[in-house]
Amino acid sequence: MSKIKQTITREIKDSRQKQTIEVELETDKNSFVASVPSGASTGENEAKVVEISQAIKNVNEIIAPKLKGKDVLNQKELDELMIKLDGTENKSKLGANAILAVSMAVCRAGAAAKKIPLYKYISELSGQILNIPLAMFNIINGGKHAHDSLAIQEFLAIPHKNSFAENLVLCNKIFGNLKELIEKNYGPTPLGDEGGFAPQISKTEQALFSLKGAISGEDCKIALDAAASEFYKDGKYNIDGRGLTKTELLEFYQDLVKNFSIVSIEDPFAQEDWQGFESIVRQLGDKITIVGDDLTTTNVNRIKEAHNKSACNGIILKLNQIGTVSETIKAGNLAKSFGWKTIVSHRSGETMDDFIADLAVGLGADYLKAGSPAKPERMVKYNRLLKIEQEMTAR
Ligand code: PGA
Ligand code: ZN
Repeated sequence: MSKIKQTITREIKDSRQKQTIEVELETDKNSFVASVPSGASTGENEAKVVEISQAIKNVNEIIAPKLKGKDVLNQKELDELMIKLDGTENKSKLGANAILAVSMAVCRAGAAAKKIPLYKYISELSGQILNIPLAMFNIINGGKHAHDSLAIQEFLAIPHKNSFAENLVLCNKIFGNLKELIEKNYGPTPLGDEGGFAPQISKTEQALFSLKGAISGEDCKIALDAAASEFYKDGKYNIDGRGLTKTELLEFYQDLVKNFSIVSIEDPFAQEDWQGFESIVRQLGDKITIVGDDLTTTNVNRIKEAHNKSACNGIILKLNQIGTVSETIKAGNLAKSFGWKTIVSHRSGETMDDFIADLAVGLGADYLKAGSPAKPERMVKYNRLLKIEQEMTAR
């Protein structure tokens, strides 16, 4: 038992210098801090955020008075209380940002009250077995995260060594190779929002050849996040200088999968293009993972719909798409019950909060997607995972 004494809220800046909220929850034991990221290619069905001064007001005036004196160990009840206080379908009254910051701080306080690490506490809440996930390092950025002309948003490297520590070392090697290759071929190249290179190239294959060259035969697979809603307009997918129909886009992906060691494609079609998703699962679902992100938005109703329609066989889990820790756990457990691959993910606008590393381990997730190691707000997540792996192997 550990009671909430008070809640302090403040405005901080995220990695894009956008305002976000940080909450400090004080209990009779200690104080626990959490902050909330934000997306750029957000799904239409994501929980809604409110403007920061309003979020702060909502925590201070509506949420905090109701939580005062409550036991932090009741994560589910406290999340439900906030959902009820909000009273909307999509958290548009209090804001998913306001609610989530409190929910994460409560979870940290709960772990401390039990005197166990956060990942272990989350695994108690989820009922899942601890797992050190494979990391998906986003090392070439396109789409909304870069100001180049690549339509596909993320080109991710997934090293497959025996430990996360080794995978991180290999990723750094590949990242170094990629820098050389890209600068040789395309000149000085800035980094995109998630810390991957954002070269001035327009063809998907150019990016994939660079990535393949950088991997240079090492034990490392490739994943894509197309974030296709962002290049879909008036019935056409605008990619590589062409406007493709959904059938043509499917063929385009089939060719990529034939030519490169791609193991998963996230959001290959626009968020309401159920037919597109169904067709790619039919054609490629036994070879690779088709991942829902904007399609499913960590929302159990959307996840059930995707399952009924066989629209994906893997899922992105983002705390701020749904707005509480409990609902994220529920979404992860549901996806796992379908035998889907699960990927815990950061957002393109991040803070220094490393909660998602513990979340991935505690949900028994297959993957953690937290950007490239070249940016500190991404690296804190990977460093936390390193530490968790050390703790788990020392036991
Ligand atoms: P976002 O992108 O955080 O800008 O939404 C991440 C993703 O699409 O996976
Ligand atoms: Zn995505």
